[in-house]
This record gives sequence, structure tokens and C-alpha cells, in this order.
Amino acid sequence: MSERATSAPGRTEIGLDRLRPGFLWGVSVGAHQTEGGNLASDWWYRENQKNSGIAERCGDAVDSYHRYDEDLALTRSAGFTDYRFGIEWSRIEPADGFISLAEVDHYVGIVRTATSLGLRPMLTLNHFTLPLWFAAQGGWLSEGAEERFLRYIDAVAPIIAAGASSVMTINEPNVYAVLDRLNDAPGGLAGGLPEPDPRMTAALIHVHRAAVARLRANHPGLSVGWGVSTQDYRAAPGAEEQADRYAEPRDQVFLRASTGDDFVGVQTYTGGIVGIDGKPIIDPAARRTLNGWEFLPDSLGGAIRRVSRVVPDVPIIVTENGVAVSDDAARIEYTAEALTSMVGAIDDGADVRGYFHWSLLDNWEWGHWEPTFGLVAVDRRTFERSPKPSLAWLGALAAPGVTSRG
Ligand code: BGC
Repeated sequence: MSERATSAPGRTEIGLDRLRPGFLWGVSVGAHQTEGGNLASDWWYRENQKNSGIAERCGDAVDSYHRYDEDLALTRSAGFTDYRFGIEWSRIEPADGFISLAEVDHYVGIVRTATSLGLRPMLTLNHFTLPLWFAAQGGWLSEGAEERFLRYIDAVAPIIAAGASSVMTINEPNVYAVLDRLNDAPGGLAGGLPEPDPRMTAALIHVHRAAVARLRANHPGLSVGWGVSTQDYRAAPGAEEQADRYAEPRDQVFLRASTGDDFVGVQTYTGGIVGIDGKPIIDPAARRTLNGWEFLPDSLGGAIRRVSRVVPDVPIIVTENGVAVSDDAARIEYTAEALTSMVGAIDDGADVRGYFHWSLLDNWEWGHWEPTFGLVAVDRRTFERSPKPSLAWLGALAAPGVTSRG
């Protein structure tokens, strides 16, 4: 570990000793962003069209499809007890109605390897990508969407039964709904996130509710929820109503749809101030990350407090939080402040059950390789993994003596 990492704040300084026993301590990765070669997905198709408008292709990604055992071993040996990863619908069902048992078995292998190492697996069933055939039918807005997704949920039952401890149905429905327009937004995420189309919002909420019911029926006792992109929207003086109106279609409607779930995943990176005119105020002089978002670590605490107000009865798991920086010391700085703000929100009564850092690996950022969120760097030619000091630092913050088996 570098000198900088050694002098970075520890458990007690951050206040993590005050967390409830059994607090989940993990990393998150997404399927398409790490696996590579997801040939049957809509994103693969788009990335490989001439004039796709997508700057850089995903290609082999970081080859986690073949190297997941290494990724899991790095996670566990750093001290983490939890691992969130995605299963890729387009691999499991590459053609309408054809379930690849070989691919189901592949993911069973990931779950078994994770649990044998002492990691609790959280599965994401859908993370932005769709099977190309499903997209061609109209995707989430098509008439058969619910039936198709439930059929997929039934098909992946062996993966869940192999030892998943929790399942996230859909990753960031609110970002999915605006993904095509995100790059045009002036400050990304909090600085002018486009407003989702209400038809898409309704469709995603409908499918999520049906998915939760089906997962509970198939797997009694399984913990089920979804993860919502939740930034720290704050109000300029006197603009409380405007801030609330801004947040409502962008995340609050999705948060409320998690009522009755076992958890809601809070996925926070940044924040923004909503002005009297109802629009985000963009500060051109602000410190920014590699993807242009404002460097605002304590947004995590702010977002958690807001989620607690919107859905006070739903337990929170931070399922994504992290920062795209090239200097790893800045990642440690950001994460230490983010965690401190999380503990502050917990002290004030928020029911937070776990923290998953985005991300284990430097990965493909939806059209770009430059924004590096990883605790581990990856050589894209050899796929060699090189842990950064932040991996050992963050892993060591897990509760001492806690293993996921304990
Ligand atoms: C997504 C991830 C993405 C991360 C950082 C979240 O919106 O779930 O896929 O890589 O933010 O941009």
C-alpha cells in the first residue's frame, strides 16, 4: 500500500464502528461493462454500426466473462464480504424463447465461486442492455415486455438458487429511460439530467413490481429490490418546491415504486442545486471528475437523507458510489468523505444496510474508456489486473472479523 493510502482515514475516524453488525461491504460491477463479447445485445449492435455516435466500443471489455474468478479473489482478499454483479439477459436468452443452459451454468459458477470464497452475491438482472431481439420488439414498451422478463426470471432460477443473497431487478431505471440523451446533458447526472418519458417510467415500474412478485414466489426469503440513480438535489434558498418538482420525475417516482421491497439501492455520484427557475445551477469553476460530474463526495449523505424522507420504511443499500479520477489518492479522498456523510445520515436515523463501491475494475463507461472508476486498473491488451492502493484501503474498512459466512 502506498504511503498516501496508509495515512488515509480508517474505520474509527470515518465512524464505521457505529454501523450495525452484518453491514454489507462490497464492490459492484456491471455485466456488459466488464464481460466482453456480448454479441446478442442491443448495445453490441449499436456500438458496431457505422456512425453509431458511440465514441469507443466495448469489445472484449475487461474479459471478466473468463476472469471472474480472479475478480472475486481480488475482492475477497482485500476484505470485502459482498459482490454485486450482473447477469446478461442477451447471453442467457440470445434468441426469443431460447434459453442457453450453458450460460445459466456459467453464472451458477460465478455464484458458487463467490460463496465458496466467503462473498455474498447480489445479482443484477438487467443493467441497461437488452437482448437485441427484445429491443427489436420494442423493448420495455412492447406489449409482451412483462411476460418476456418473467420468463427470463424463471430461467435464471438456478443461478439465484445457487446462493444469491439478494437480487436487483433493473439497474437505474431512471437513467435507462434517458440514456440516449445523457451525453447531451450540460453537466450530466445532476447538472440537467433529462426528464424520463412518463410512458417509459410507467412501463419500468410495472415490470419491476411484477418481477419482485415473481422472484418472491420463486425464491421465498430472497431479498429483492432495484437500484435508483439518486443524486443529491438541493434547493437554492426559497426553491424547495422547485427542487422537489425537479426530483420527482427524475428519481422520486422510482424510489416510491420500491415501497414494500426488501431494499432500495441508492446509487449516488454527485449533486446539484436547483434554482428558483426550476433548473440546475451549473458552476463552471467547480472541481470535476473525468466524466465532467461535480466532485461532491458528501452527496452520498444528502441523497440518503432524501431517500429516507421519500420512502422512510424501505431499508437502503448503497449499491453504487464512486468517482472517475486518474489519481487514486483522489478516489480515497472522495470515498472517505462519502462514507463519512453516509454515517452522518445513519446517525440521523437513515436505515442503511450496506455499501457497495462502484467499481471493482476500470471498465467500459457506456461509450468511453477514459473515466476510470476502478479500485483495480486493467491492461486492456493483456487483461492483467493491477490493484490500486484504494482497493486495500477500502477493503480493510470492512468490520474486523466479519465474513459473509459469519
Ligand atoms: C451505472 C453504471 C455506470 C456508473 C458510472 C451508473 O449510472 O449504473 O453502469 O458505470 O453509473 O457512470
